[in-house]
Amino acid sequence: MSTNNEKHASISAVSPSETIVEMTELILPNDANVLGNVQGGRIMHWIDLAAAVAAHRHCKAVCVTAAIEGLSFLNPIKVGQLAHLEAKVVYTGTTSLVTKVVVKSEDMDTGEIKKTSEAYLTFVNLGRNGKPSPVPPLLLQTEQEIAEFQKAKRIKEHRLALEKLELGEI
Ligand SMILES: CC(C)(COP(=O)(O)OP(=O)(O)OC[C@H]1O[C@@H](n2cnc3c(N)ncnc32)[C@H](O)[C@@H]1OP(=O)(O)O)[C@@H](O)C(=O)NCCC(=O)NCCS
Repeated sequence: MSTNNEKHASISAVSPSETIVEMTELILPNDANVLGNVQGGRIMHWIDLAAAVAAHRHCKAVCVTAAIEGLSFLNPIKVGQLAHLEAKVVYTGTTSLVTKVVVKSEDMDTGEIKKTSEAYLTFVNLGRNGKPSPVPPLLLQTEQEIAEFQKAKRIKEHRLALEKLELGEI
């Protein structure tokens, strides 16, 4: 299944797996709060970086972050542990896309791995003219890719509805 759109007709579809970005960070004292856990802001920075690389890879162009949704901190990551980030494009619209990022901790002494964060980031492809430009559609080949596409679409629509509500437009 390809996310067809008339404006996409001339752009080749890209599979979510082609956009996967993996990043590993060793948590150092400078990354931590007074409890010895990684600071939320540091994790947010790494999430934004990983997601931006996936978006750039998908569009072969620089994309800007428009919104971050559903960011959770489920478990702490301690100094000396690893943070593994995986980002991939899961939804494409016309000029925007959504990247899902999952963060896991690894305790290298015990081998224990825990999911610690998840987030959905919307990026807009700014073309050569610096204006929102069409993004390549996603090539969805598995049930999971279709389910992730539909979930991210709902998250983006929810975000846009909330913004309209805040602006008093609905
Ligand atoms: C993101 C930005 C380019 C959008 O500009 P805009 O004039 O609102 O663009 P448009 O109204 O044409 O919308 C473009 C796309 O972005 C989506 N979009 C815009 N704002 C959004 C938001 N807050 N949340 C989710 N999607 C958003 C639109 O739905 C549209 O998607 P579609 O084409 O796939 O349907 C502009 O707001 C901007 O430059 N923001 C600052 C970005 C930035 O500095 N980020 C941090 C550093 S990278």
